[in-house]
Amino acid sequence: MSQTAAQAELFQPAQRVAGQRQDVWSIVNEAAAASPVQPIVNMGQGFFGYNPPQFVLDAAKEALNRVDCNQYSPTKGRPRLKKAIADAYSSSFGRALNPDTEVTITTGANEGMLSAFMGFIEPGDEVILFEPFFDQYISNIEMSGGTIRYVPLHPPKDGATKTSSALEWTIDFEQLERTINPKTKMIVLNSPHNPVGKVFSRAELERIGELAVKHNFIILSDEVYDRLYYVPFTRIATLSPEVYERTLTVGSAGKAFYATGWRVGYLIGPEHLIKYVAAAHTRICYSSVSPLQEGAAVAFEQADKVGFWDESRKDMRRKMSLFCEVFDELGIPYSDPEGGYFVLANLSSVKLPEDYPFPPHVSSRPRDFKLAWFLIQEVGVAAIPPTEFYTDENARIAEDYLRFAVCKNDDVLETAKERLRGLKKYIVR
Ligand SMILES: Cc1ncc(COP(=O)(O)O)c(C=O)c1O
Repeated sequence: MSQTAAQAELFQPAQRVAGQRQDVWSIVNEAAAASPVQPIVNMGQGFFGYNPPQFVLDAAKEALNRVDCNQYSPTKGRPRLKKAIADAYSSSFGRALNPDTEVTITTGANEGMLSAFMGFIEPGDEVILFEPFFDQYISNIEMSGGTIRYVPLHPPKDGATKTSSALEWTIDFEQLERTINPKTKMIVLNSPHNPVGKVFSRAELERIGELAVKHNFIILSDEVYDRLYYVPFTRIATLSPEVYERTLTVGSAGKAFYATGWRVGYLIGPEHLIKYVAAAHTRICYSSVSPLQEGAAVAFEQADKVGFWDESRKDMRRKMSLFCEVFDELGIPYSDPEGGYFVLANLSSVKLPEDYPFPPHVSSRPRDFKLAWFLIQEVGVAAIPPTEFYTDENARIAEDYLRFAVCKNDDVLETAKERLRGLKKYIVR
């Protein structure tokens, strides 16, 4: 037996991490690093290609000089940050949020959601997710012992031939109702949505809210892209006092201020929910990074005054239009996003050469993995295959799509466009 095989036998990993197939991020990033076209234009992962604005950077740097900012923060978050968030969100929640009881700080939105699942889900409880889903939800729910029930968003019928608004990804409410049962403890929403770019309409949210009240389950509303909406944006928590009572709204300072590496997230909701999220967070990581919480506090205090929210929304919408020009030019249809910084393009017209040498870990996956591999190798642009955000059963819905993140510098977007023009010779109609 080889040494590695012997060690593998000795140190069996826990089921929750064993047997997972290679994740999309490592497939795409490894392929990108090995591509013959270098430097690759990476529009895969949703990190920003530029820095936070100067007022945000200055705030973080100043925090590092303060003794208290280099020590543990209170487990529920630094008082200044909780107050800044309560102040920044009270008007859009239509109520004066109490920073001590209705806001809690987490290590990114991701750990915040893990804390919400750990705080409320018991083994056997069911959590409803819409497909496509942000992939981290799955392991976070499974680690809490929950069972996931999936409800797919239905894509636009003519998505392969025509560009249409992301609003055309729709919910089959009968299917959603059939999925609800006495074990249903929670539903997870994501608006603006990754990867679809849909902003759930007020009417859709009202129906979901009514179901939550009727069947008495919790709504976890992942609103990390809440500052990037291009159509009217409704927070489900604001629909009625009954809905507020059962809703946890999740935010991310990393997404808001172009600083995904800061890992500062937060949850807003009624005291009877927030206190158990905070309790789980205390046991998972005790408290979150102090100087960057302080930096985020100053950022929230100043953002409105310096016009940052308007500027960031307009700038991202502009980047989206700038990048999507290439799809219009090539006749590649896409789902025009209503929010966020991802766009799904439908590449059904791109014919992959029959004898193309895909490696086994790609050829065994749906067509979008092959499209992603082909783009990396042949044109030098990395994008994400969205079937990763589906169960195997529903993966075919997205197998012609690729997800591109446009939160990159304009010159990078222009290079990507120039390279994507190289797809022309593979397009067959
Ligand atoms: C829908 C969604 N929720 C949550 C997150 C994670 O946010 P954070 O970086 O604050 O953990 C992401 C990041 O990509 C996301 O797309």
